[in-house]
Amino acid sequence: MSTWNPASWQTRKAQQQPQYTDPAALESNVAELSRLPPLVVSWEIEALRERLAAAQRGEQFLLQGGDCAESFAECESDRIAKQMKVILQTSLVLLHGLKRPIIRVGRMAGQYAKPRSADTETRDGVTLPSYRGDIINRPEFTAQAREPDPRLLLRGYERAGLTLNFIRSLVDGGFADLHHPEYWDLGFLRNSPAREAYQRIVRSIVDSLDFFESLTGSPVHETGRVDFYASHEGLHLLYEQAQTRFIPRSQQWYNLSTHFPWIGMRTAQLDGAHVEYFRGIANPVAVKVGASMSSEWLQGLVTTLNPNNQPGRLTLIHRFGAKEIEKSLPRLIDAVRQTGQTVLWVCDPMHGNTESTVGGYKTRRLENIQRELELAFDVHEAQGSRLGGVHLEMTGEDVTECTGGARGLSDADLARAYRTQVDPRLNYEQALELALMIADRSKKVRTF
Ligand code: PEP
Ligand code: CO
Repeated sequence: MSTWNPASWQTRKAQQQPQYTDPAALESNVAELSRLPPLVVSWEIEALRERLAAAQRGEQFLLQGGDCAESFAECESDRIAKQMKVILQTSLVLLHGLKRPIIRVGRMAGQYAKPRSADTETRDGVTLPSYRGDIINRPEFTAQAREPDPRLLLRGYERAGLTLNFIRSLVDGGFADLHHPEYWDLGFLRNSPAREAYQRIVRSIVDSLDFFESLTGSPVHETGRVDFYASHEGLHLLYEQAQTRFIPRSQQWYNLSTHFPWIGMRTAQLDGAHVEYFRGIANPVAVKVGASMSSEWLQGLVTTLNPNNQPGRLTLIHRFGAKEIEKSLPRLIDAVRQTGQTVLWVCDPMHGNTESTVGGYKTRRLENIQRELELAFDVHEAQGSRLGGVHLEMTGEDVTECTGGARGLSDADLARAYRTQVDPRLNYEQALELALMIADRSKKVRTF
């Protein structure tokens, strides 16, 4: 392996990076970012890797979810608390159904950079750089807004820090206590068809806890406080590099801007800058994989990113779409098997199921999302493999961005509360419905 350092990616071709026009300003902002304290610490990262290793063995299950893109404007207490509520509630349903600890990971506190299919956008004959996420430029369609601004790197770091600080305080204060799921109630579920099923699960968990605690006379270990981890797409390599630190205790480099960064589909080239950067950090890492990935390419990723076959180190998040998964997944499972390595397999049923309505909205149908997820469980099982988690774009807000679900949202409903900057998210109710589907399915599979 050639020598790695946090900047060695700069010798490779880096896709999806912004073109800054003021190199001096860029340099001074990156230098400041490199001096500021990290957002997470290495022992949290190590603890997460151990849990991901347990998920790989089938003992735990990963729930990773959040916005497609966070925005600086929405770094607000209400939104963050709602996002946590929906992740906690969804995880409770999964816990009940799967009877395994759920690893909760937010697409949060740093999900600010987006890959785009085109570098520029043209409206009414005017061509400007594409919006690439709040850490790079601004969404308004003006030349000034779309100019990549290096000061936004610091703004992003600060907002990620504010978000994490609030999450940590909520968790420490008992917000995530399994004895008090009523803290996670979101008003608009009151009229939801999913409410009754959810409440039955909550009652059953609270009753079991009470029963066990009165039987043993002591509180059940670790129910008062759940762990919560942060993840984002490691897209903007100067940002990731600036938060990469050497930890003498373990003699390794860590990306301390997040616990669990991933490589997106568009930047997973084997000889590209992202793979070069990711191979040298000690965090658990993930890669998005799709139908266009050849078996040799995937095998190269597996051996480059996890040469020592370390448990929990590498997660593959597959995102094929409901139509493709049966054709593509067996081939990729087999390709990984041939390397003799083990990975954690996770299904992202969102990104392969995006479509546009006649009205011009980017949407996803819940039935396709459910179908892909069910097929993911089936195909892994049939191949003697195991699905160890789900990766969702979801929000605690009552938005109308994906169609379907118990409330029967149709294309005509999308205009009512379509708020995403980039991809359509499951609303709170749809996320719960998906979790209920997984829980139901696992009840059928269980034989005792
Ligand atoms: C995403 O997760 O928002 C994303 C862009 O996904 P992918 O890289 O799988 O297309
Ligand atoms: Co997305």
